[in-house]
Amino acid sequence: MDDKTLNKGIDKVSDIIVKSKRIVVFTGAGVSTESGIPDFRSPGGLWDKYNPDDFLYQRFLSSEVSREKYWKMNSELYYILVDARINKAHYAIVELERMGKLDCVITQNIDNLHQKAGLSDDKVIELHGTNMWVNCLNCKKRYSREDIQFRLEKGIKVPYCDDCGGILKPATISFGQPMPFEETKEAERRSRLADLFIVIGSSLVVQPAAMMPLYAREGGAKLVIINMENTPYDRNADVVLYGKAGEIMEELVGKVKDILQFQKK
Ligand code: APR
Repeated sequence: MDDKTLNKGIDKVSDIIVKSKRIVVFTGAGVSTESGIPDFRSPGGLWDKYNPDDFLYQRFLSSEVSREKYWKMNSELYYILVDARINKAHYAIVELERMGKLDCVITQNIDNLHQKAGLSDDKVIELHGTNMWVNCLNCKKRYSREDIQFRLEKGIKVPYCDDCGGILKPATISFGQPMPFEETKEAERRSRLADLFIVIGSSLVVQPAAMMPLYAREGGAKLVIINMENTPYDRNADVVLYGKAGEIMEELVGKVKDILQFQKK
């Protein structure tokens, strides 16, 4: 997208944001790549390095070898996630909250960066769970991910529950694992109530998460997509801004602030 078209698009979206009162922001891994966390489907992304089939929920449950592969990948990503610093896109979303315009963030990400940036837990709906905790799938005992990392670094290949010996898994949602019922229901409800739905950094190819923009449209919301590449929903969008989330979001919120300042005079 050339600069002139992008700037025109940013002007259009900033006008829409000024007029909006219930903005739902929907984020994918692309909002965190500028924090050093690889996404999944871009060239060099996680699914280039690891085979997603190895991480199907049923395989994780049924085979210790799969659990070992899973924990090896999760352990390799641990410090990338823990050390990741929030970026301009995360900040800009918090600014929307400060303006009283953000209804909530619906995220597919497990990195806790929206909360690290300053959004309260009740403003973030984590559709695919979080990597901050580890649960026993049998007795539901909860462990911090740090505790389990300590065990992995001491040589444990597959951790099991201290109390019941059950299988431990990070509180994330793997392919084939049931979606969190309450979060999914609430995300649909909030999407339908939004007057503006902004997608940031998602390929919008994973269901049912990728239904949310459609629910928003059905509820009458305007749809804006900010992404480095095309998505299957671009033709449904009012505006599509192709480019880096951090730069675009920073520019957008800056323009919204200028308009609001001018209107106050
Ligand atoms: N700015 C804007 N867009 C970006 C940036 C960036 N800095 N970096 C990457 N992107 C875009 C990519 O072009 C891609 O279209 O973000 C999108 C990320 O898409 P995916 O890697 O598919 O990630 P996501 O949409 O979050 O995947 C959804 O799939 O594997 C599962 O559970 C996993 O939650 C994940 C789900």
